[in-house]
Amino acid sequence: MLHLSTHPLIRQEVGFLRNRDADATQFRASLRRVSQLLAYEASAHLPLQNASVETPLETTKSKVLAVPVILVPVLRAGLGMVDAFLEILPKARVGHVGLYRDEETLEPVEYYGKYPDELERAAVFVLDPMLATGGSAVAAIRILNERGASDVRLISLVSAPEGVAAVEREFEGIHIHTAALDRGLNDKGYIVPGLGDAGDRIFGTG
Ligand code: PRP
Ligand code: URA
Repeated sequence: MLHLSTHPLIRQEVGFLRNRDADATQFRASLRRVSQLLAYEASAHLPLQNASVETPLETTKSKVLAVPVILVPVLRAGLGMVDAFLEILPKARVGHVGLYRDEETLEPVEYYGKYPDELERAAVFVLDPMLATGGSAVAAIRILNERGASDVRLISLVSAPEGVAAVEREFEGIHIHTAALDRGLNDKGYIVPGLGDAGDRIFGTG
């Protein structure tokens, strides 16, 4: 299920990210703002359990999250979203999956993986700004499912219809949260209009 944000601040921020003249500092700041807003939207389903709290006057009922939260950024570009998510979900733990897209085949290549315990009962958010062919997202979610994760959501900033279709084909009913659904892919597998290479723009490489 695709959740395309209609929040005005998110839509404005996507415009800032697309701007080719934004330097790495501006790009990172904008990515952080839009990621915070997406974290707020994408965490709206999290289950609560009853708790209690002592106010200065008396004890009263409160609520706490009923499940652990695990963030899994896809290296490298997903790293640009982690701090923003941790501001909204400060108790979340963070796994890392290292994947890069082979420039010729566009197939994902796995080069790193480290994950916290409790994937089985956690609400897991896979963070990657770009959902292009969907190869990287499918590989990341498959790795997490093989390790027992069952509640996995994908958070992307800019998605191509091809990538959304690929993920939905592989994982029926999966929730994908995105800030923008673009026209498609060009012949090099870049999202158009897109925002270019997210990893390069975050880290000033390329
Ligand atoms: C980018 C992006 C995604 C992937 C999307 O990473 O961050 O992980 O491409 O493309 P796909 O949907 O076709 O798989 P990239 O491979 O450029 O690696 P990087 O983040 O290290 O630059
Ligand atoms: N990866 C990116 O960083 N940008 C794209 O447009 C496609 C894949």
